[in-house]
Parts: sequence; C-alpha cells; structure tokens
Amino acid sequence: MSNRFSTLLARNVPQPHIEARDVSEEPNPDLEDPVPGDISSGEDAGGGFGIAEHTLESSIEGPVHSDSVIDARVRLHRKIIEELNLVALEKLPQDQMRREVKDFVRLTAREERMALNVSEMEELVSDVVDEMIGLGPLEPLMRDPTINDILINGHENCFVEKSGKLQKVHVPFKDEAHLLRIVNKIVVAVGRRIDESQPMCDARMLDGSRFNAAVRPVGVDGPLVSIRKFSKDKLALKKLVEFGAMTEPMAQVMAAAVHARITTIISGGTGTGKTTMLNALSAFIPEDERLITIEDAAELQLQQPHVARMETRPPNVEGLGEIKQRDLVKNALRMRPDRVILGECRGEEAFDMLQAMNTGHEGSMATIHANTPRDAIGRLEQMLGMTGMPMTVQSIRNQISNAIALIVQLTRLSDGKRKITSVTEITGMEGEVVQMQEIYKFTRTGIDKEGNIQGHFEASGIRPRFLEPLSDIGITFPGSYFDPSAIQE
Ligand SMILES: Nc1ncnc2c1ncn2[C@@H]1O[C@H](COP(=O)(O)OP(=O)(O)O)[C@@H](O)[C@H]1O
Ligand SMILES: [Mg+2]
Repeated sequence: MSNRFSTLLARNVPQPHIEARDVSEEPNPDLEDPVPGDISSGEDAGGGFGIAEHTLESSIEGPVHSDSVIDARVRLHRKIIEELNLVALEKLPQDQMRREVKDFVRLTAREERMALNVSEMEELVSDVVDEMIGLGPLEPLMRDPTINDILINGHENCFVEKSGKLQKVHVPFKDEAHLLRIVNKIVVAVGRRIDESQPMCDARMLDGSRFNAAVRPVGVDGPLVSIRKFSKDKLALKKLVEFGAMTEPMAQVMAAAVHARITTIISGGTGTGKTTMLNALSAFIPEDERLITIEDAAELQLQQPHVARMETRPPNVEGLGEIKQRDLVKNALRMRPDRVILGECRGEEAFDMLQAMNTGHEGSMATIHANTPRDAIGRLEQMLGMTGMPMTVQSIRNQISNAIALIVQLTRLSDGKRKITSVTEITGMEGEVVQMQEIYKFTRTGIDKEGNIQGHFEASGIRPRFLEPLSDIGITFPGSYFDPSAIQE
C-alpha cells in the first residue's frame, strides 16, 4: 500500500485530543470513546448507570421465572415502591440506596413469606433500583452492548435487534400503565412531554440514545417505542472493513475522497448504517477544519477538535417555536464553517445544503434515505422541488451534479449484514440526465444453508475522476485498487 491513507486507516487517524477518561462515570455523549478513533476499545463496561451487573437472561425470550414467582415479585415490587420513601432514597448515593433497598426487600420478603435465594434477592433489588432510578425493565436491555435497537409494540410485544438480527424478547412490563410510566420518565427527563394531545415524541435520551414514542390514540395497541441505542464503540472505518461492509481499498479511496473535500453523500434505507458510515468517514476530515453538525437528535460523534453541534426543535404545544433543519443550515452558513455535516437530508434544507456544497463548503456531507444512487438523485430533486423556488428540472439537476461528487450506497442484506453495495461517482450532465459511473459494487452470488448471503466486491475498472485532484495533493493508489479482475471476497 503506497498512499498515506493506508497508514491512516491502520492507525485510524485522529490523534487523541481529549484526555482519556473513565466513561463509566457519566453517560455524557460528548465525551464517550475515551481514546478517539480507537476502534478496538472494548465493549461497554456497564452502561454508566452505576448499577450492579444484571444480565439479560431474565428478559430474553421465554419466561425464566414461573408465573407465581413473577406474580409474587410484582406484588412485592409494588409494595416496595409504595412503601419506600422514594424521594428520600433518590437523594442517597447509589451504593447506599442499593443497601437500603436491599434491607427493605429482605424485610418485606420475610413478611410476605417469600423464600428468595441470594440471586433472586439480588435480581429483585436490581429490578427495584432500576425502576426507581432507571428505566425499569428496559434497563438490562439498555445495558446490553450487543443490542442495537429496542422496539416495543405495546407492553407485551417487544423486540430487540441483537447482533444484526431482530428477535422477540420478553420484557416484564406489568401492564400498559407501567410501560407508559417508563415512557413518560424518559420524555420528562429530556424536558419534553407526551400525552393524548401530543401523542408522538422524538428525542435524544440522556445517554445519547435516540428515542421515539407514539402513544394512544396514535399507537393503537398501546405505546409504540423505538430506541436506537447510542453506541459508545462507534464502528470506525477499519472495523467496518473487518465486518465485511467494504474492502480495504474501497475504504482507503473513500477516506481519501472525504479528506480531500470530494463532496460525499451516504445513501441507504433505515438502519442500513448511514449514520455509522458518516461518522466513520468523518474521521478523515482534517483536524484543522471547523465543522458544524445538524441533526434532529445528535448522534454523530465527530472526533475533530473543532465541532459545533446543532439540533432541531419540534414545535411546542401551541404549535410554535419549531426550528427546522433548514433554519439550522442557513444559520450554520453564517457561522464560518469549513464543512456542514447534515445527519439526514430529507426536506427543503437540501436546497441550502447543495448551495453550500457549491459555494466554498465542498466536502460537506449528508445522508439520504434512498435505495440506489440514482434514487438518491431523484430524492434530492424532489426535495429541491419542495422549496417552491421556480427552477427548471435542468437547473435542479445541474445544482445536484455540480454539488455532489460521490454517492456511497448502503444496503442491509437479508442475512442482516450491512454492506456498501455501490460507490458511484457523479460526473456531470448529459442533456437533462445526471451522469454517474459506478466505481465499486457488491455482487451477490448466492446464499448458503444458514441463509448467509454470498458475494464479493468488485471494481468496475473505471478510475474515478476525483483521483486527479487527489494526486495533485500527493494521494495516489495502486492500479489494482480499480482492477475489475482483482476480486475480493
Ligand atoms: N457494517 C455494519 N455491521 C454491523 N453493524 C452495523 C454496521 N453498520 C452499522 N451497524 C449498526 O447498525 C445500527 C444502525 O446503524 P445506523 O448507522 O444508525 O443506521 P442508519 O443511520 O442508516 O439508520 C447501529 O446500531 C450500528 O451500530
Ligand atoms: Mg441514521
């Protein structure tokens, strides 16, 4: 490997600029990832809630406890919650609170003539503590680092995405009111509200996870909750290569493009890994640039020292005070950014983003919800149409093709694996048509007995046009990187 991105990837770029610190102390999303860029940093140690380990076994599929035990526990639980002086307890340090709860549980269990062994006792104490200071039955799921998403369709119907696969789990909510109470707790903690008059809420939880809830009357069978957990160990580019999301040469070429301000858009469906990819690629933006991020719920964790983060705001109860992405993009352009990073481009802000990309903010980045690179262009066209500006199709497409140089397409395959299925360069216009050429693609060759998709990445043989500006600044790649006969699994 002969370019500096091979070493960049190997070292995984950014030099630490934040002091390493113990993240378990505080779940502050800004300070996660103690050594920025160290993708090998281990798993989440304990969720940062300061509560003793509590495994998922009790909540994963299939009741581990018999009904009578659950009944008794629910009863005990209720009694404890009713009788404990919660307000006083909440003020105590956590280990002391835990001790107090434990004493009380022991006493109550004896009064109720419940025989609990040590682990049952511990579990009950954890449940009660979780209920008091945490998210109740959701707490173990929030702490499990292998779970990415938690999806609840009413209190009896819960799913998690664990290691890329969706699976049903038993989460012991007592009833709908219990779930609703947890939902309220989450929403109130971030200064929002949810009720019949305002039944939907999209928010960022205190630990950085993304939270969405829809309650009755919108949620027909009770509260619908979707949590995309904040992942401390953001998948860096090197790790994405290891996971088979792309090849090393693809990663190097894209990293170099991002570094050299070749404007890149990341396209894909929901949960295909767009935000992860944007985050990983953004690591290759030089450290001396000023970046402004714009999101609905701040998820990106850029590692550069100079990052200004902005978040939209929904309207209040009276329907006032909404701050849209477009407002933020406009404002960001008055803040002297080198690049604007838009978490997800999905409306009229596309217009301002493209203008920025065309006027001195090259290298700005965004994700877009689309299934192919061509579809991404179509979406952008639609978004530009939404601004109501009198523009011809030709001029809209001109804007797009001038602004964007590279589209990275992500797909979640049927086996749950997320891959880059296309890296496509926009080369200009021919008549009214935006011209594109594919540099890399994933070709599917079959499916094995376990349902795993088989296939490989291929280069098309076309050398991207942006190699020229790259070589001007001393970045070159071996010819094999673009050789269609050099198939990589
Ligand atoms: N290549 C990959 N392999 C395995 N997991 C991935 C990969 N890319 C992303 N993920 C995980 O998939 C989930 C969804 O990714 P995210 O980037 O939030 O998707 P999107 O922004 O497209 O909705 C996250 O939990 C993330 O950690
Ligand atoms: Mg996303």
